[in-house]
Amino acid sequence: MTGLQNIKACVFDAYGTLFDIHSAVGKHRPRIGEKADALSMLWRTKQLEYTWLRSLMHAHVDFWQVTQDGLDYAMETCGIDDPDLRTALMNAYLALDAYPDVKATLAALKQKGLRTAVLSNGSPRMLQAAVESAGIGDHLDGVFSVEEVGIYKPDPRVYQLACDHLGVRAGEISFQSSNAWDAAAAAHFGMRVAWVNRFGQKRERLPKPADLELTDLASLPELIS
Ligand code: 2OP
Repeated sequence: MTGLQNIKACVFDAYGTLFDIHSAVGKHRPRIGEKADALSMLWRTKQLEYTWLRSLMHAHVDFWQVTQDGLDYAMETCGIDDPDLRTALMNAYLALDAYPDVKATLAALKQKGLRTAVLSNGSPRMLQAAVESAGIGDHLDGVFSVEEVGIYKPDPRVYQLACDHLGVRAGEISFQSSNAWDAAAAAHFGMRVAWVNRFGQKRERLPKPADLELTDLASLPELIS
């Protein structure tokens, strides 16, 4: 597989790419029972839907609020009325498991002299908590939240944030995301993109295809120069 050349920084989506969003429900699976997978999938679906709809409506609230709203919709739909569980699930979202390939990949990229950063819908507080909980802060040069521009991905102003903070052009950034729509938007913006297809999904019919499709992050460092 041919790699990406002339890269100065590697920027990562957070939720689904660095952090396992289903580990929040996973931590409470025995308490939730057979509805656990449906609850977690619907929670994520509504969380993202609300970000897209609020951006189009010009009705921005931060990702902590949208994540709560998505959880409330999902719990009601699944017929789960349990305020203590709701609190536990939201707290778990501040300490999601990092995927096993994350820390070694970030360390290897830093070793190669590349800068690394997070670019995410997450609020600054959520991202700081998740980065600290995963112990990856030492391997990151920056953590950029959409709160700085007040609109969610895939708006181009979000991807411009990474260029501005890092002082590099879009084509000098390798952007990694497991969310295919996010990967497409970054490619459309002009970044070089690796789609981290962790969930074995089919190709989106969106502009524009990623440069690379990976199953996880482990092979990324050898593909970047
Ligand atoms: C993130 O921005 C898309 O939710 C994903 O981290």
